Amino acid sequence: MGAIFQSLGRTVLAGFVILAVIVIATGGAGARAGDHAWWAFVLRWLHVLSGIMWIGLLYYFNFVQIPSMPKIPDEQKPAIGKVIAPTALFWFRWAALATVVTGLLVASMYQYLAKALMLGEGFVAIGIGMWLALIMAFNVWFIIWPNQKKALGIVQVDADAKAKAARVAMLTSRFNTMLSIPMLFCMVAQQNGGL
Ligand code: HEM
Repeated sequence: MGAIFQSLGRTVLAGFVILAVIVIATGGAGARAGDHAWWAFVLRWLHVLSGIMWIGLLYYFNFVQIPSMPKIPDEQKPAIGKVIAPTALFWFRWAALATVVTGLLVASMYQYLAKALMLGEGFVAIGIGMWLALIMAFNVWFIIWPNQKKALGIVQVDADAKAKAARVAMLTSRFNTMLSIPMLFCMVAQQNGGL
């Protein structure tokens, strides 16, 4: 057991092995492996998995890292800025992209992508959820990440520009935290009668 949990890669692999055992033991996948609905379901699962990674890290930034920064002595701050934040931002932005791609694929596989984006009848909940999440993903890639690169010193700018970039990234991250609340409600409302 220790050998598994001492490595993140092996831990994640173990999760997939347990999943394979469950799928094989319950006999579900064998019969349905060629089935369109089953693959749409697999994509939906990958969508939720990447969504958790994205929004989990968004909440880490907003509920843990940002409020903790003023309490950390200056000489220890580089540990956050140079080590933890760049790693968190790597998983954050790629998880956001994976969530968008899998979400759009799920909607395409069920052939309601355009209808949902136009808030057509029967797709208002998921349509609103998708628009909110698309705005959030846009913010991640085109506002938060470029500004974080300046704030963390990945892109060199003067002290004023650095402080401004950090503020823009922080406020946009807060904006996304606000949108995540109605976004997730709408996302799960579609299948579960929430709207
Ligand atoms: C632009 C980004 C996104 C798009 C295009 C998108 C699209 C979709 C679609 C099409 C569905 C299936 C709805 C249905 O037919 O019931 C769905 C479900 C879902 N999405 Fe998203 N989504 C996005 C972002 C997110 C995010 C950030 C999360 C956060 C965790 C998330 C979590 C979920 C959940 C939990 C479900 C419900 C699964 C179910 O009830 O079976 N989505 N999304």
